[in-house]
Amino acid sequence: MDQLPADVRESVRDEKFSSVWGNDLDKVFANVAPYYDVANYVASMGLWGWFRRRFMKTIELHPQERGLDVCAGTNAIGIALLKREPTLEMHAMDRSAEMQAVGKRNAEAAGFHIESVIGDVHTLPFPDNHFDIVTLQFASRHLRIQQVFSEIYRVLKPGGRFYHCDMMRPTNRIVDAMSYGYLRFVLWFTALIFRSNEASLQCKEYFVSALRMFYSVPELSDVLRSLGYINVNGKSAQFGMLGFHRAVKPPVG
Ligand SMILES: C[S@@+](CC[C@H](N)C(=O)[O-])C[C@H]1O[C@@H](n2cnc3c(N)ncnc32)[C@H](O)[C@@H]1O
Repeated sequence: MDQLPADVRESVRDEKFSSVWGNDLDKVFANVAPYYDVANYVASMGLWGWFRRRFMKTIELHPQERGLDVCAGTNAIGIALLKREPTLEMHAMDRSAEMQAVGKRNAEAAGFHIESVIGDVHTLPFPDNHFDIVTLQFASRHLRIQQVFSEIYRVLKPGGRFYHCDMMRPTNRIVDAMSYGYLRFVLWFTALIFRSNEASLQCKEYFVSALRMFYSVPELSDVLRSLGYINVNGKSAQFGMLGFHRAVKPPVG
C-alpha cells in the first residue's frame, strides 16, 4: 500500500489486523518458539546473524546502563547487548511466555540474566524516565506503532536512545513485489520443514499483508519525529527491505 498519512495507515492496520493481533499471534509464537531461532537462519538463507550484527553496529552502549528489549522473543538482542557490555541491567518484555522461556534458557546458557516481563507491550509496566536504551527488532508489524513508540518514549530517560530494526515496505515497486514473493516462499518452506500448526498456517497471508501495510524507512522516521523523538536516523539495507532506526528522547533543559 503506497504512501498514506501515518494516522490513516495506523487506523487501516488496526481495522485489518486487530483480530489477528488479539487472537492468533500468541498461538503462532507458542508454536514456533522451540524452532524460532533455527527457522530464522533457514528463512534468511543464513543472513540472520548478519542482520543482528548490522543492527548491533547502530547501537551505542555505556557501562551500567539500563536497557529494555521490547517484543524480546528468544532474547537474541538482549544477549548480544550483554555480550558487548556485561555490566548492563537488561530487561525483556514479550507477550509469549513460550518465546521467553526459550529466551531465558538462551540467556542462562550464555551466562547472563535478563529480567523478563510477560505482557502486552502497548502498555509498558515501567516508570517514566527509567531506561537508557530501548530496542525493538522484528516485531513492529504486529503492533500499533504510535502507541508503542509513545510508551517507549515515556519510559526512556531524557537523552535515552531507541533503536529499531525490522523488515520495511520497500519504496521501489520491483523490490516490493520481489520481497512479497520471497516472503511467501519462505513462509511456505519453513512451515513445511518445521511442520507448523494450524494457527501458523492460517497466518501466512497475514504476515505478507502486514508487511504490505507497513511503513517504509522514511515514513517510520517521520512517525518517530511526530512523537517527539530527535536526532532520528533511518537507514535501509537490502534495497529498502530492511530498516534500522535510531531516535533520541530530548534531554531536559
Ligand atoms: C518475530 S518475533 C521477534 C522476536 C525478537 N525481537 C527477535 O528479533 O528475534 C515477534 C515477537 O513479538 C512478540 N509480540 C507480538 N505482539 C506483541 C505484543 N502486543 N506485546 C508483546 N509482545 C508481542 C511475539 O510474542 C514474538 O515473540
